[in-house]
Amino acid sequence: MSYALRGRRVDVLREVDLCVRGGEVTALVGHSGSGKTTLLHILGLLTPPDNGRVLVGGTEGTRPMDTSGLSDGALADLRRNRLGFVFQSYNLLPQHSALRNVVLPFLGGRGEGEERARTLLARVGLAERADHLPSELSGGEQQRVALARALVNDPPVVLADEPTGNLDAESEDLLLGLFRDLADEGRAVLLVTHNPTVTAFADVVHRLEKGALSSSGRQADPVEPETESER
Ligand SMILES: Nc1ncnc2c1ncn2[C@@H]1O[C@H](COP(=O)(O)OP(=O)(O)OP(=O)(O)O)[C@@H](O)[C@H]1O
Ligand SMILES: [Mg+2]
Repeated sequence: MSYALRGRRVDVLREVDLCVRGGEVTALVGHSGSGKTTLLHILGLLTPPDNGRVLVGGTEGTRPMDTSGLSDGALADLRRNRLGFVFQSYNLLPQHSALRNVVLPFLGGRGEGEERARTLLARVGLAERADHLPSELSGGEQQRVALARALVNDPPVVLADEPTGNLDAESEDLLLGLFRDLADEGRAVLLVTHNPTVTAFADVVHRLEKGALSSSGRQADPVEPETESER
């Protein structure tokens, strides 16, 4: 993957082959600038890769779907229904309360959304902060609201960019417990992190270095996507 920058090419990723499985917490580590966020945005279907492909799904014996060539609308649907994404810079809407930020992407009814959002805010330790605007929350609190928002549609895949970057040990423990529960429920959890506690906690660790991945922990089996004619 390269970025085009004022007539220059900035090469970031090459030879990256990463499989994130349900039931596991996977950590993605690497130096600042090594391409972790770039890779996460590709996996989260936010940035199309200029080379290679992203496969989604493939649980219970079915083969995964190749997302290359899907329309923007189809990608947006996949993101809404299947992926929970926590941005490195949170991306909360500043004019809305914590509760509203969590409810807004909810795909079901409004009442149900509010109830779910309150439950999720409690789960990230923010029951008392539901009516605060983002500017009335600490950095770590905003980060936790962003996580609650990512979980509102019960996604089978959770991608989080340094979700413990701003947390004290107690909140970190709370979130690691939550990530473990999410994995135990069968979800795939991918955490970008600089934090050794998170890396030690993960089932699989992938390290990005000079654009390439090396891994430790249990390795993924190769998967073949279903073809166009099989869909
Ligand atoms: N839009 C862009 N145009 C050009 N270069 C970019 C762009 N976005 C990122 N880069 C470059 O790509 C490289 C990887 O950036 P990325 O944000 O993926 O790193 P990172 O591993 O997430 O770093 P950090 O740990 O600091 O968050 C960096 O060197 C960055 O300068
Ligand atoms: Mg980053």
